[in-house]
Amino acid sequence: MSIIKLLAENVANQIAAGEVVQRPSSVVKELLENSIDSGAKSVKLIIKDAGKTLIQVIDDGFGMNKTDLNKCFLRHATSKIRKSSDLFNLNTMGFRGEALSSISSVSHMTIISKTKNDLPLGNEIRLKGGTLVSKNEVVSNLGTSISVKNLFYNIPARRNFLKSDNVELKHVIDEFHRIALINHEIDFIFVNNENELFNLKKSIFKERIVRIFGKSSEQKLVPIKENTDIAFIEGFVYKPEYSKRTKSAQFFFVNNRFIKSSNLYHAVKAAYDGLIFDNHHPSYFLSFKVPSDTIDVNIHPNKTEIKFDNDQSIYAILRSSIKHSLGQFNIAPTIDFESSVNLNTPYSYKDKEASIPKVDYDTAFNPFDKPKVSSTFSSKDFSFEGLENSFENINKDSNLFEDNSFIAFPVFQLNLNYIITKTSAGIVIIDQQRAHQRILYERFLSELSFSNNSTQILIFPIKLDFNSEEIRMLELVKNSLIHLGFKFGKFDSRGVEISGIHPFFSENQINALFQELIDSQILEFQKTSHTINDFLAKILSKSSSIKSNIKLEKKVLESLANDLFACKDPNVSPFDKLIFKVISTKEINKMFFK
Ligand SMILES: Nc1ncnc2c1ncn2[C@@H]1O[C@H](COP(=O)(O)OP(=O)(O)O)[C@@H](O)[C@H]1O
Ligand SMILES: [Mg+2]
Repeated sequence: MSIIKLLAENVANQIAAGEVVQRPSSVVKELLENSIDSGAKSVKLIIKDAGKTLIQVIDDGFGMNKTDLNKCFLRHATSKIRKSSDLFNLNTMGFRGEALSSISSVSHMTIISKTKNDLPLGNEIRLKGGTLVSKNEVVSNLGTSISVKNLFYNIPARRNFLKSDNVELKHVIDEFHRIALINHEIDFIFVNNENELFNLKKSIFKERIVRIFGKSSEQKLVPIKENTDIAFIEGFVYKPEYSKRTKSAQFFFVNNRFIKSSNLYHAVKAAYDGLIFDNHHPSYFLSFKVPSDTIDVNIHPNKTEIKFDNDQSIYAILRSSIKHSLGQFNIAPTIDFESSVNLNTPYSYKDKEASIPKVDYDTAFNPFDKPKVSSTFSSKDFSFEGLENSFENINKDSNLFEDNSFIAFPVFQLNLNYIITKTSAGIVIIDQQRAHQRILYERFLSELSFSNNSTQILIFPIKLDFNSEEIRMLELVKNSLIHLGFKFGKFDSRGVEISGIHPFFSENQINALFQELIDSQILEFQKTSHTINDFLAKILSKSSSIKSNIKLEKKVLESLANDLFACKDPNVSPFDKLIFKVISTKEINKMFFK
């Protein structure tokens, strides 16, 4: 008996859907690409619940007539290629004829379309799990509207695999950026849950970038233009000083298609050699136009990887043209890595005398008590007992207890990084930055649960520009920030106005602090934190802590050591890094063979 059977069309489509449709953003990508292929001048994207409930794309392109409408959702149904040689001369975004069949097989889909020959009515089809359920003539505008409801309704495992609305929305926005940026001659509107996130009018490339990434991006852009036989390259890169530790705003487009390419990325990075830190990443918006028969787009189902015939030459052209532009725009006076050890410092520490961090002292802390320590740090290993001996040579009337400090042992700084001190257990080496992070983290975390935090009111409110996506991220921490003592005037799709700040911060740190918040993947806070407050406390502690390679005064060193050991968990930083190490007297004796 033969056991091999051909899969039913809808089963085959569901399997194929696994490749094309991973999440709502993949649907958004395919539908927007179809609208672009249809010659639309204006495209509207409407989603509900980050696309989990509804994704609708409406365009004013050339539409489909009744016959085409009845075919478009079949597998391998495409109007874009006819023969295999067409594959090597692609001028459309789509060509595999898979998207509508795959998407419709895992959702409820309605397509309404009208071409200029279909007067007066257009046509509508409704599909459920890829099967046609109704056909109608309907009143409609010229163009096509496709709505996809209840994605993965028939594959619970995939539906459950979807992330929170915030994360899914972030994916959709990323996809939207990739398409809206390069198709700047098309009007786009993007609405999520009745909220208009973007309303972009046809414009030049630069204006589109600024509309999407906010007004502040304008001053960061350096134009790139290079015309050679094998490629025409045009676009913008960010000035080196705006490079960041996190990868953001990195876009390569080849013949209007967003692509990923480690080879091209390497070329960009090489152009910035010596201008940015090794662990920083440049931002760029680069569009390549190449003859379509010199690339192969057919490598990956979602078509984000392509192969160039002239890989090496394109690498060289790209690298030299960016280098040239950076030089020409006189941004090349390189950062002096020797003298700028403080460049990591987001704020103006380097201009200031180091001052005592305004950390609340735990005045109840008494080193002569058993220390409040926990976990691996046992009072036996590290005890303040016997500390009295250190007093022997110290005049108790000296200003030892000035500003309520209980430091009773010599403290000094090593290599601008470590605090060295002595206890009965031996020598303690403390990492200054991690120690301060721990102290601040515990402070912010506890303040986030207080109700009466004080505010430092600003006479002149600080105005910061953000784009709507950034605002959405900040909204997640807005209430926590208010709770901590921040006060906001305006907080809308264009920016925020800050009228009061937490007293720990100074005004000139605020811009960098908000930038740090935006760079910190707030939307994915669950990856690293249980709660948003914990996440926020970590970010605040990270961005405002004393950094490495900074000279600290004795008083600062003392209070850091004191405050660290008053912490609930002095062993590790909020990011799980070791804070201090003890070299025991026994170990020291051993070194001397005693
Ligand atoms: N928005 C649209 N406007 C006009 N035609 C469309 C639209 N969306 C889909 N189509 C038609 O449906 C066909 C199938 O679409 P799709 O499954 O995405 O495959 P592909 O884009 O690879 O051809 C397209 O080739 C096109 O003819
Ligand atoms: Mg398509």
